[in-house]
Amino acid sequence: MLETFKYLIGSAGPSGFGSKSTADQVTDHCPDLRSITAIITGATSGIGAETAKVLAKRGARLVLPARDLKAAEDTKARIVSEFPQSEVIIMALDLSSLDSVRRFAFEFESLNLPLNLLINNAGKFSYNHGITEDGIEMSFATNYLGHFLLTKLLLSSMIKTAKTTGFQGRIVNVSSNIHTWISGDFISYLCSITKNKCEYDGTRAYALSKLANVLHTKELAYRLQEMDANVTVNCVHPGVARTRLTRDREGFITDLVFFLASKFLKTIPQAAATTCYVATHPRLVNVSGKYFSDCNEALTSKLGSNTTEAASDGKNKSDACRIGNVIGVGIALGSVGGGMNGKSDGSNVDSSGGGRKTCDDSCSGAGIRKRGGSDLDSFGGGGRLVVTLLVL
Ligand SMILES: NC(=O)c1ccc[n+]([C@@H]2O[C@H](COP(=O)([O-])OP(=O)(O)OC[C@H]3O[C@@H](n4cnc5c(N)ncnc54)[C@H](OP(=O)(O)O)[C@@H]3O)[C@@H](O)[C@H]2O)c1
Repeated sequence: MLETFKYLIGSAGPSGFGSKSTADQVTDHCPDLRSITAIITGATSGIGAETAKVLAKRGARLVLPARDLKAAEDTKARIVSEFPQSEVIIMALDLSSLDSVRRFAFEFESLNLPLNLLINNAGKFSYNHGITEDGIEMSFATNYLGHFLLTKLLLSSMIKTAKTTGFQGRIVNVSSNIHTWISGDFISYLCSITKNKCEYDGTRAYALSKLANVLHTKELAYRLQEMDANVTVNCVHPGVARTRLTRDREGFITDLVFFLASKFLKTIPQAAATTCYVATHPRLVNVSGKYFSDCNEALTSKLGSNTTEAASDGKNKSDACRIGNVIGVGIALGSVGGGMNGKSDGSNVDSSGGGRKTCDDSCSGAGIRKRGGSDLDSFGGGGRLVVTLLVL
């Protein structure tokens, strides 16, 4: 109750910022970013577009990968018209395609640019069941797997940049409080939705992808520390804001729900604040593996802080193997911190070796069937929809 009250009035936490702080305010005293190169995914709309605008204002050189190049050019035009000194590079990237991620990483490397900041912001809330060209459930593929591979392929550039410039690199994964909705055997659930064996629940699939963002953050932070790399990684819940994330469900009911929940909604500049704070604030030097909400450190779910779920070499090795089997591309949550051991050409996102080949799991093997346009979703009940929006 007290927390809700504090949220509603925007009371500042230990960082000095709170739910009503904007991206502009939290970067007001950040260091000059003119020597910083940042990649921001999903900058064609919503929170990513605001993040890009504010970092450009502070002087950062931006690389904006997008699947819709026209929309990205529009974003660039808006930024340049407001801040004529800004340098914005547009590149093609569809995070739901592992090939596209590899192509982007290759093209980025060929530009020979430094890389200080990677903001994994793009997101998809897939209401209907969809399977990508790689045979993976759409929300998981876009929100987690694409970003996982992107991070893995760019990590050596970030580590090198940090070494040569002396500036600590930062990775920010945009997760969500909805990750707390996942409990129990989430790997079985991933198995089910990947193979389309159960009734697809878009909200749960989205929540699972956001839990994966949290686990990725924890494990990667651990591995970066082990490597003594001068790069940190943290994840954020931006808060709930009306963006194009709900674009598949636009209509009267969604309008009504947003109206009813309006007291709890953030504006887009407020929703971009936590990302910008974590990406730039000097107070967060050497802070890694943490989860932030309303510009302050926050608690993840129990599952989100379970490091053995994130690690492939702990007790849960068989679970990690099962995920690898489920999505069939040689990836496990356990290898989320990968990039250090995997193939350097990015031809495989696996970094946990051949262990999973020995896994005996009922989920392994083929059987992925496309069922585009399914009406199965979780937005049948108004109450559920309100709750979903509040934790989105
Ligand atoms: N809004 C909220 O209430 C809320 C709450 C918690 C967390 N989040 C998270 O915040 C992040 C930003 O979301 P938003 O609210 O700003 O939503 P948004 O307005 O829909 O923006 C999402 C961005 O992701 C991009 N994207 C989607 N699929 C992609 C793909 N396959 N490849 C490359 N880019 C892709 C979109 O590009 P296109 O223009 O090409 O679609 C768009 O630029 C997401 O990670 C979301 O999960 C949002």
